[in-house]
Amino acid sequence: MTAASKTKSSRSAKTSAKTSGKTSGKTKAPRPSVAPAKTAKEATPVAVPTKTAVETIAAVPQAGATSNAALLARRAVAVPRGVASAAPIFAARAENAELWDVEGNRFVDFAGGIAVLNTGHRHPKVIAAAKAQEDLYTHTSFQVVPYEPYVALAEKLNALAPGDFDKKTLLVTTGAEAVENAVKIARAATGRPGVIAFAGSYHGRTLLTLGLTGKVTPYKKDAGPFPADIFRAPFPDARKGITVEDALNGLETLFLTDADPSRVAAIILEPVLGEGGYHPVPAEMWQALRAICDKHGILLISDEIQAGFGRTGAWFAIEHSGVVPDLITVAKSMAGGYPIAGVIGRADIMDALAPGGLGGTYGGNPVACAAALAAIEAIDAEGLLARSTALGAHFRARLAEIGVRAAPYRMWDIRGLGAMLAVEFVTDFETAAPDAGFTKSVIGHALKRGLILLACGMHGNAVRIMVPLTASDAIIEEGLTLFEAAVADAIAKERMIAAE
Ligand SMILES: Cc1ncc(COP(=O)(O)O)c(C=O)c1O
Repeated sequence: MTAASKTKSSRSAKTSAKTSGKTSGKTKAPRPSVAPAKTAKEATPVAVPTKTAVETIAAVPQAGATSNAALLARRAVAVPRGVASAAPIFAARAENAELWDVEGNRFVDFAGGIAVLNTGHRHPKVIAAAKAQEDLYTHTSFQVVPYEPYVALAEKLNALAPGDFDKKTLLVTTGAEAVENAVKIARAATGRPGVIAFAGSYHGRTLLTLGLTGKVTPYKKDAGPFPADIFRAPFPDARKGITVEDALNGLETLFLTDADPSRVAAIILEPVLGEGGYHPVPAEMWQALRAICDKHGILLISDEIQAGFGRTGAWFAIEHSGVVPDLITVAKSMAGGYPIAGVIGRADIMDALAPGGLGGTYGGNPVACAAALAAIEAIDAEGLLARSTALGAHFRARLAEIGVRAAPYRMWDIRGLGAMLAVEFVTDFETAAPDAGFTKSVIGHALKRGLILLACGMHGNAVRIMVPLTASDAIIEEGLTLFEAAVADAIAKERMIAAE
């Protein structure tokens, strides 16, 4: 075990960082957001923990039923390669923002199971609620014998979601299922087939949601054809010099060339592109989309599956823009690690499909409903919305320092909303060419040192931060120190290769 592994986990939610993190709504020309204060040669050596997680792995016999190597070998035979895993380790247990593998190595978890763990691994309230529900019943199928936790969660979500109108909520199991159902509901409510999604968006891996997803590799590759009546609009990406005006012009062109607006049921957009690289949607983009939807009778869907439940400092990320969508898709951090998802929307729209038109055997599983109610209560009781805003500001400041100190001219951008942040790496500030290789190297070195990170972005050159909002200040600092060390490792490795 590393020296750092002796640090106790804590669920304290205190920080002195100032609050910020709202998107200004302004677009900017491509330029680095991280000032290069020093040349690469002047990069300050970084203090790092003495023993790394990988040294510990190496010290443990690799054979045997519970070694990572043995499990990787079994996995290669039993599980298709299409299910990729970011980390070549196997989980043994986890608590809040810490995870231990089957060999006893400890990791700080900045990935949160892909943005599922805003309340951390095994939040005590979530576990207690799930266990209490398991002692009563675990499944009846809501369509056979309904149960109160489903209704209670629907009531809670209807109350939390923005919009001063009556709402109803459908519960399903996965994010992709929520998106599929939102499209189905929008089509039934409008009597129209078309759906408009955006470049760089991610909405799931089922065939309809892959059709909506705007990123080919690896998701859509070899999986088509995709359903008809899906159209793609440009995303306002400051990194590529695409302003909100450009994006809206692209949408108007789409209406003229391919998508008759009177045949479009819905426009769907993530408030912060998730897999696409943590680009927040400027407020004026949401406002313009709301106006366009109102003009043409199109429904506006906010896909909050990755950005919701406190990640950005609000229950729903679209709240930062002041715009109220017609439908919202939710999942992930809603239930602190239990599989449940949903569609929240205007009551009249949600009632468009006839009885039997919605549902699924497992939809709104009672254990997951109980967990979700507890996770929502924990977000509220522990002030995690404010914690997210404060953490976002703290991460921005620390990551900028790290960029200047450990990787001058390589960290191009730090962006996001609240604690939904990503850092982007480039080859140099002259060309600003995306550097997926360097990003992969940072993530690999981080894992060796005991930090779990995940990439994102159209070019795979951003690292996203999805640390539990319940992580203690000490764990956050430990993770940031490991991150800096990993960035320094990646730079050192590059120099070594260049010198060979
Ligand atoms: C914004 C968004 N929508 C939909 C999905 C699909 O959710 P799931 O993986 O639960 O099907 C994801 C998953 O990452 C997501 O981030």
